[in-house]
Order: sequence, then structure tokens, then C-alpha cells
Amino acid sequence: MRQKIVAGNWKMHKNAEETEDLLNELIDKIPTDLDQRVIVAPTFVNLSAAADHLEFTPIEVAAQNMHQAEGGAFTGEISAGMLESVGVRIVILGHSERRAYFHETDALLAAKVDTALKHEMEVIFCFGEELKDRHAGQHFNVVENQLKDGLFHLEASAWKNIILAYEPVWAIGTGETASPEQAQEMHEFIRDIIRKNYGNTVAEDVSILYGGSVKPENAAEIFSKPDVDGGLIGGAALKSDDFTKIVLAI
Ligand code: 13P
Repeated sequence: MRQKIVAGNWKMHKNAEETEDLLNELIDKIPTDLDQRVIVAPTFVNLSAAADHLEFTPIEVAAQNMHQAEGGAFTGEISAGMLESVGVRIVILGHSERRAYFHETDALLAAKVDTALKHEMEVIFCFGEELKDRHAGQHFNVVENQLKDGLFHLEASAWKNIILAYEPVWAIGTGETASPEQAQEMHEFIRDIIRKNYGNTVAEDVSILYGGSVKPENAAEIFSKPDVDGGLIGGAALKSDDFTKIVLAI
């Protein structure tokens, strides 16, 4: 069933103490009786502590990345089994910063998705066009190819563990958000291509989040669009007041 979700991607911010402080603030401020899911993704080094801290709260914890192998000689990497072992059941894959700075390709991401799903983890799969693609009128093609190459090898039954996050690269950390109409137009397109490939049930059930400069001031309008099921929040997820307002804007 389609869910409303607000997720905070903390990126490379917050040391151990700051992580604990922000989690405490969120636990205090976010009501416990919400229908929407609330997810936070601290850095790897603080994940285990965060998972422990959030264990008896409704706030869920996600990793920002994961390696595709089960284990082995991959210095600096983290496996799905390791995430599971500290209570992390959700992973963000394909963030544009991973794609751009760490050269993660659609084929690599498809392998990561497979590994995560084998471990019955949920995947928040990120994708989105760059500004040059939009200027060239290629944004729909780019998004379709990212989905096709990263996810469309999956069986329909696997989609219950997939959350999509459309994040136009030009709107990430720039203060320039897609307009609610641009977000709705793309989300509707995404749901349509999923419908074509997998049928109506999968298309209607999948949650599609928008990410890119979501703030307390613009969240409600973006979330009001019928095909926008929530947000993946960067900068504004680092301040408990702002993140709480965004969570409550849905
Ligand atoms: P900002 O909200 O800072 O634009 O970042 C969005 C993002 O990249 C979330 O993954």
C-alpha cells in the first residue's frame, strides 16, 4: 500500500554527539501517533548508536549507502549483513552525490538493489536529471533510463520493498526547488512508466518521494500534489524544528 514518508538524509554531517542531540530533539518534537513514516539516515559511524537510540520510537533509521557484495576485501565498505546486524533495515541507494562523486552507475546500483532485497531490506532508490538534461528537454528520458536500468529487472513482487525518490540534481542543495507542478508532472510520468511495465497495482502502491531543497515553507504545497507521497530532505533535515515542520506538512 502506498505510504506517506518523510526521510532525512543527513549526508556527511553530525558527529556522534551531534547525532545523539539531533535524535533526542526529534524524539521530543515529532508526535508518536502519525500515519506518515519518518526515517533518518545518519552517517555510517553513528548508525549503530542511532538504531539503538530509536529502537522504541516510531522514527526509523536508514543507511546512506551499501556495498553490493556480501563481504570480502573491499576496504572502507559496508555490507547489507552488517547493516542488518545493527538493526538497519532501510538503505538509500543511487543518490546523485554517489552517482556523481563516486561514479556509481545504473548497473552497479542494480546489483546493490538486488543485494539489499535479498536481505529483505527496503530501498530508497534515488534518481533525477541534471540541469543540462532539463534544458535539452531530455529529463523524462533520463529518468526513464535510470529506472529501467536500475530497477526494471525486478519482479513485480520485489516492488513492495522499493521507495522511489525523484531528486532533480539541479534542485539539490541549491535552494532552487522544482515547482510543485514540475514535481507532480515528473511523479505522474514515473507512475505511468511503472504502470506500463508492472501494471496498476505496483504503480499505485509505490511511494514516490520528492527531494531537492524541500523546506518548511514549500513542503506543504509540494506534498499536496497527488503523486508526491513525501520527501527526501537534505539540509532541512539537520535542524529539528525544520524537519519536524516538514514531517507535519504532509
Ligand atoms: P537538500 O534538501 O539539501 O536540497 O538535499 C536533498 C537531498 O539530496 C536529499 O537526499
